[in-house]
Amino acid sequence: MKVRKAVIPVAGLGTRFLPASKAIPKEMLTIVDRPTIQYIVEEVVASGIDQIILVTSEGKSAIENHFDYNFELDTVLREKHKLDLCEEVCNISNLIDIVSVRQKKPLGLGHAIWSTRNVVGNEPFLILLGDDLVQSDTPCCQQMLNLYDQVGESVIAIQHVPRDETHHYGVVEGTAVRDRVYRVDRLIEKPAPGTTDSDMAIIGRYLLQPEIFDLLEKTSPGHGGEIQLTDALLALAKKRPMYAYEFEGTRYDAGDKLGYLKAIIAFALRHRTLAGPFRDHLKEVCSAL
Ligand code: UTP
Repeated sequence: MKVRKAVIPVAGLGTRFLPASKAIPKEMLTIVDRPTIQYIVEEVVASGIDQIILVTSEGKSAIENHFDYNFELDTVLREKHKLDLCEEVCNISNLIDIVSVRQKKPLGLGHAIWSTRNVVGNEPFLILLGDDLVQSDTPCCQQMLNLYDQVGESVIAIQHVPRDETHHYGVVEGTAVRDRVYRVDRLIEKPAPGTTDSDMAIIGRYLLQPEIFDLLEKTSPGHGGEIQLTDALLALAKKRPMYAYEFEGTRYDAGDKLGYLKAIIAFALRHRTLAGPFRDHLKEVCSAL
């Protein structure tokens, strides 16, 4: 079945980014010239998906407004003959069909995904975390869709991380099937040091079968008292095949202060007009260190 929908949860509290995220959603913080969330929406659009389902919460309306049409701004920019800017701003609201679902309490990522069950329905769908950026030649979602076309089962994106960092991630234990593809045997959310030999960390991209919703419904709160997506993924992997895919590209955790700074540098160095002068500036700064 064709994958048509992508869920982007943005309802988290963003505590790692306080105080910046107190009144502004962390997903609206700027990476070079656009908010983090816009890169994620653009990845979905570039992968040929028809609809985005945002999971929002109180205080996240700036995200919905960013993708809405702004009549006043449109009128003012036209009156001032700033037509290029006007077109760029309008294009954001025409990128893709977006609907929102409210997560009433921040009960965890698993709960956020479960909130979308009636909008997603009985079809496979993508999940992209609203603070996880991937820089790649082929969009990460597109790479996952290509694998899905071959295996017809759930695919979760992973990256290898240093072993002393695995306790920060959901970790996959699996068996290699071919280059970059593993059959998932076990998943562990934030494993205590020494409890797994795997270094395959789950990043914020998933392509899941809709059975996940029933499994989420039955999942009791796990690590941190939250309903963990990883626990439901493990139940899904026991029912039918699931694949871990080592995507091509670099992932940045823009919900973390250091990850955010790294993302700014990476995206600035690829920017159409800013890359050159920014590179010169970086060289100057580095030589002075
Ligand atoms: P994170 O743990 O990275 O985000 O969740 P957070 O909870 O906002 O941030 P910290 O840890 O307090 O700094 C991963 C994704 O899941 C969403 C977040 O918005 C983020 O995109 N999420 C998390 C929800 O939508 N609802 C939740 O209850 C929890």
